[in-house]
Amino acid sequence: MIFDINKIRADFPILSRKVNDNQLIYLDNGSTAQKPKVVIDAIENYYSNQNANIHRGVHTLSQEITVAYENARITVQKHLNAKHPYEIIFTKGTTDSINLVASSFGKKYISEGDEILISAMEHHSNILPWQQVCEEKGAILKVIPINEKGELIISEYKRLLSEKTKIVAITHISNTLGTINPVEEIIALAHVKNIPVLVDGAQAVSHTRVDVQLLSADFYVFSGHKLFGPTGVGILYGKEKWLNELPPYQVGGGVIKTVTFEKTEYADLPLKFEAGTPHIEGGIGLAAAIDYVNKIGFDSIATHEHELLIYATESLQKTEGVKIIGTAKNKASVISFVVEGLHPFDVGTILDQLGIAVRTGHHCTQPLMQFFGLQGTIRASFAFYNSKDEIDAFVKGLERAIKMLR
Ligand code: ALA
Repeated sequence: MIFDINKIRADFPILSRKVNDNQLIYLDNGSTAQKPKVVIDAIENYYSNQNANIHRGVHTLSQEITVAYENARITVQKHLNAKHPYEIIFTKGTTDSINLVASSFGKKYISEGDEILISAMEHHSNILPWQQVCEEKGAILKVIPINEKGELIISEYKRLLSEKTKIVAITHISNTLGTINPVEEIIALAHVKNIPVLVDGAQAVSHTRVDVQLLSADFYVFSGHKLFGPTGVGILYGKEKWLNELPPYQVGGGVIKTVTFEKTEYADLPLKFEAGTPHIEGGIGLAAAIDYVNKIGFDSIATHEHELLIYATESLQKTEGVKIIGTAKNKASVISFVVEGLHPFDVGTILDQLGIAVRTGHHCTQPLMQFFGLQGTIRASFAFYNSKDEIDAFVKGLERAIKMLR
């Protein structure tokens, strides 16, 4: 498919709306991505024509939607190149997926004195669940340091990997800095010592095609809403071996083979980890989103987004008083910056008056902010539907904001 930005933009109804009497310029894709019409239609169609519960009925509607939901699982499986559909667990999102692994893995494999290894650039979602396991089990949280550019120091990582390390949990792409981490190398180094690795793919899945077998990731997690799908649905990919060994996370309806008051026999994968009625329309909508992005193609997406990254970086570097935070060699289309003497919230508020949506604050990465000695940053995160014209308007708006606030 030819990459036609105008045609692509027309697929996203929200992009034509106005905010504060100005044309919306949406540069907060790291928080959540907008939804193409096909996703909105899939959800509308679900409630208009398909609504029933899955795995629970002999009636036609239930059977039809069960097939559709399981097909959505296969869409995710193929997209990630997982070996089996049952290695794909539907969750509420990245946070839920990490909590699941931390809780179940922690219960079975973490004991006093063990170490869990994360990095200095993790989102709170990939810190707090591990911190909780450490508190419960008397284990120790170790942190891979970063350099001033916002890159992992791999020699330190190698030093920190020890026989005490029970799991490594690392982000694929930093939500705050845009740094693309060398996850393949990180996983390979951990595997030499038989240590499993969880990869937080929340920011990666919208920018790049992920192949979990190529990476050899033990766990790979992401949220549907950042991949142009609905909120409230996410994915936990886990290697069959691990998912079979981990105890269930939440229990209740749907996760069992038999129940008596004395004993419960749990269901096989994937249902063992999917207690309760799931976010059915979320799964259906996510599959529609995956089909949509694959039609555009991740090669085209990566090329366009890289152009946007370079263009915006060069423009911001020319803007007086602006300092970019996060200058890694390998970056996704995410730019954090500060403006000398100005509070990020004030800048963000004026940009909003101009219809420009960016994120301001600590981006749920307070330890990372502490490393840079900052309270927060302004973050522009681009998706494939953003254009150079929008970046021009954003930089012009920023210059106006700076003038007004000085
Ligand atoms: N984790 C999301 C972000 O970085 C919400 O904005």
